[in-house]
Amino acid sequence: MIENSRLMTDILIIGREGQLGWELQRAMAPWAQVRAVDQPEVNLALPDTYVRLLRQLPQGTVVVNAAAYTAVDRAETEPDMARRINAEAPGILAEECRRSGTLFIHYSTDFVFDGVKRKPYVEEDTPNPLNVYGRTKWAGEQAVCAVNGAHLIFRTAWLYGLRGTNFLLTVRRRATEGRPLRIVNDQVGCPTWARSLAEATVAVLQKLIMRNGASALLETRGLYHAACQGQTSWYGFAKAFLPSTVALQPIPTAEHPTAARRPPYSALDCSRLERDFGVQLPRWEEALRACLASESAPA
Ligand SMILES: NC(=O)c1ccc[n+]([C@@H]2O[C@H](COP(=O)([O-])OP(=O)(O)OC[C@H]3O[C@@H](n4cnc5c(N)ncnc54)[C@H](OP(=O)(O)O)[C@@H]3O)[C@@H](O)[C@H]2O)c1
Repeated sequence: MIENSRLMTDILIIGREGQLGWELQRAMAPWAQVRAVDQPEVNLALPDTYVRLLRQLPQGTVVVNAAAYTAVDRAETEPDMARRINAEAPGILAEECRRSGTLFIHYSTDFVFDGVKRKPYVEEDTPNPLNVYGRTKWAGEQAVCAVNGAHLIFRTAWLYGLRGTNFLLTVRRRATEGRPLRIVNDQVGCPTWARSLAEATVAVLQKLIMRNGASALLETRGLYHAACQGQTSWYGFAKAFLPSTVALQPIPTAEHPTAARRPPYSALDCSRLERDFGVQLPRWEEALRACLASESAPA
């Protein structure tokens, strides 16, 4: 997906050690001048730590925020911390980017939706988050839009990869421990490999720059759904990566209570991304195969 040309731009990635941040670094490093930061150097709960950094960056550095408070259940008991990181920080980052005349790239979530709809959600659908995490992420989107500087917001879903904390790694670990595997089959969404999203982000940046040079970045404003194609349940996803010898039991959400309510349906329609940039993420099954194959490939 990534084309053979340098982006000729400086990029700051916030959230270097996260699933997406790590893949962004990997995807962007060959094509741009990348600096990647994480805590404690940058703490999104403490604006001084990142405002100072942003004001020292070379002119025109694109800022990519892959950091977030992503502990969906814990957010229910830490709403203030989730709000500072997911809602306030993106607005301050966007304002700093506007002041210095650069593009701000931010990520949001399918959990802004309530799951009442039974067709993939489009960008025009009205969010109605069911939990603190979703509310703070939606507030973050709104804060970025309110600044009205150059920005791109990618709403993604069900991120996984071979690093960090995610459903795939947790379920695989439990399978090797021989623990019972009862997996929810009435929540449906789009499992998305963090690498697919990182590569799509690079492809969008390349398209923008190829169209009009670096100045095109400053005219960019938009919200895009960006997830792997297709949809499945958590149970369907687990079945696709576990060996057939592992016994898996599908269960309803009611049998797996969690602190945060989750939308029963949150598939994303990503046709706006394809229409505006010609960028499509792969189908989730294909991305999963590539992810698992990458485990035995050299880094
Ligand atoms: N994971 C999903 O299923 C999912 C689904 C939809 C949307 N998204 C969105 O996609 C984006 C990337 O998610 P991800 O799964 O890659 O996240 P992740 O793996 O949980 O990584 C989050 C990153 O944010 C950093 N971080 C947390 N609190 C911070 C703070 N106060 N200051 C600075 N950095 C902080 C973490 O650093 P530490 O490790 O030091 O805490 C980590 O590097 C986020 O915007 C998320 O909301 C994720």
